[in-house]
This record gives sequence, structure tokens and C-alpha cells, in this order.
Amino acid sequence: MREKIKQIEAAALEAIGGAQSVQSLDDAGVRFLGKKSEFMELLKSLGALTPEARPGVGALINEVKDKLENAIRAKKIVLLQAAQHQKIEAEKIDVTMPGKGIRRGRAHPISQVMAEAKHIFFRLGYELAEGPDIESDHYNFDGLNIPPHHPSRDMWSTLFVEGNLLLRTHTSPVQIRVMEKRKPPLAIIAPGRVYRRDSDATHSSVFHQLEGFLVDNKVTFGDLKGTLTEFLRQMFGKEKKVRFRPSFFPFTEPSAEVDVECVMCDGKGCRLCKNTGWLEILGSGMIDPNVFSGVGYDPEKFTGFAFGMGIERIAMLKYGVDNIRLFFENDLRFLEQF
Ligand code: FA5
Repeated sequence: MREKIKQIEAAALEAIGGAQSVQSLDDAGVRFLGKKSEFMELLKSLGALTPEARPGVGALINEVKDKLENAIRAKKIVLLQAAQHQKIEAEKIDVTMPGKGIRRGRAHPISQVMAEAKHIFFRLGYELAEGPDIESDHYNFDGLNIPPHHPSRDMWSTLFVEGNLLLRTHTSPVQIRVMEKRKPPLAIIAPGRVYRRDSDATHSSVFHQLEGFLVDNKVTFGDLKGTLTEFLRQMFGKEKKVRFRPSFFPFTEPSAEVDVECVMCDGKGCRLCKNTGWLEILGSGMIDPNVFSGVGYDPEKFTGFAFGMGIERIAMLKYGVDNIRLFFENDLRFLEQF
């Protein structure tokens, strides 16, 4: 019997030592020490031994049983540690690897220029006003001293909606909306989208304007020139040449347009500037007394200036863009440069 016990011990130790996984170790445990194992059968057959032999064999069985149980416990620790080590190795992250990179969104160049223009005027003390994109005849034309059937309506290639509604051709209607409601002194800017039947390298059918106007006692053309010069200096720096050129608008008298040196030819003359060397960015002037009368202001008491600038044109000049369409094509290779 002792012989048999030793055989089982040797076989069990070999199986335990050779177990490659916790599962096969558990299987070995069941096989050698489980209820139905040969070893347990031996234990049961102790009764068949002589009383003298019984204690010695019983002690040997217990000794071997302890030994095997200890061996299983020790092996289990080794296997669990190995498994954990393997898992850590498999999940190891190389923190020095370059990341995937997050593509950051950014404001559209037109939004950027618009925000910059607005902030220049906020710093000068102007406040913000807004008006609707779909306007009535009254605000887009009549209130601005452009009566029906007057040839000056031709200056704006208007897109009509229905009845007396149209897509506003400029932001100037906001002047009338504000002046109808409020009394001077006023210093207002009104940004927004405007619409015209217009299309070439410097004209688009939808574009952005920033309107501005200031009304008070004793506002002069000098104030207009000073304000716009300061704006242009902040927007373009001192290097870009600008000029004020006499012009006509039905709602201002006198009127002036402001041109900035062409970006493409530096003033020499090219296709973009139609060989003039200049790109027009804004219209301006002293608010016409007829406009004041229309909103119930006394033209003898108040004077004011107004201006309306094209934001796309400013962006073209600021960034050297030679075609206005690039701003609307949404090509990321273009937009990501801003
Ligand atoms: C006007 O729209 C006047 N309301 C401006 C004004 C306001 C004058 C207040 C006096 C007092 P004009 O049509 O010139 O003016 O347009 C103003 C600016 O908008 C232009 O100088 C130009 O920069 C821009 N612009 C005009 N048409 C287009 C177009 N189709 N696409 C892009 N920009 C344009």
C-alpha cells in the first residue's frame, strides 16, 4: 500500500508541476485528490489493514495529501502571477507613440473678419443692432430716400420675394429701423447678410456687410473720415494704402467710397481690380436730411454719418485672396489656412 501511495504521489507531483493553466491544475487536483480519486479510495480501504499497520499508513496518506495540497496551492500562485503578467504585457500602452490628433474646428475667415471689424467699433463705443434678411420696400429703399420708379433703385440688383418684400440688398435698412425707434445720440453697427443679383471674382450674390452710423449734434465729415481711417488702420495696419473717393448714394450727401490698394498687383493694375489698382471696400457719407425727416428727426438739429462695408472684400485684401468664391466653396484646404 505504501508503494501505491508513493506512486500516486509521484504521478500527482508530475501532473501539478506540468500544469500550464489554472484549469489543468484544478483538473489534476480533482483527478488525484477528488472524492473519486484513487487516493481517496485508498483512504477508504484503511479499514482493511491490520490495526498495527493502520496508523503508519494513515499518517503517510495524510502527509502525502498535505504535500500535494501545498504543491497545488504554490503552483496556483505561480500560474496566476504568470497569467496576470501576460495580461499586463498584452495591454501595455506605449505612451511615447504619437497620438491620433484631434482636428480642431475654427471660425470661418468671414466670421473672423466680421468679429474683428465689430470689435474695432465696440472699442470706439458703438453698439449692436440687427434687422431681418427679408425686408420691405420701405426700409430697403423708401426710407433711404430711394422712391419707387427712381433710377437710383437700379444701383441695387434686387432679388424680390413677393409683394413689397425683397432680400435686403444692403444693411442700410437697419439705420431706418433704429432711427424710427430711438432718438440721438446714436452710435450703431449692424452686421449681416445681404443679397444681390451679382457674380464675378469680387462680387457674390450673397455677401456680408457691416453698417455703421453715428448721429448727434455737430457730427462732421471730419468725424466720418477720422473714424474710418482709424478703423482701416486697425484692420490693415499702416502699410496698406487707402483712398477716399467722391461718390453718390441717395441716402448720404456728400458721399465717399473707400478703396484699398489691390492685393494682387500692389496697385499696378490687374484683372482683379479691373486695372484700377484699387479695390472698393465701403460706401459712406453724411446722412441725407431727407432720411432724417423720414424718421422724424429735425435735420436742422442733427447731423450724422453712415457707412456700409463689404466684409468679403476686406477679407480678400487682408489675406490676399483673389476670388470671392473661395470663401463659399468650403474647401477645407483653403479654410484650414485661417
Ligand atoms: C451700399 O450697399 C451702401 N448701403 C453703403 C453705404 C452705407 C453707403 C451707408 C453710404 C452710407 P455698395 O453697393 O457700394 O453700397 O456696397 C458696399 C460694399 O459692399 C462695397 O464697397 C463692397 O465692398 C461690398 N459689395 C458690394 N456688392 C458686393 C458683392 N456683390 N459681393 C461682395 N461684396 C460686395
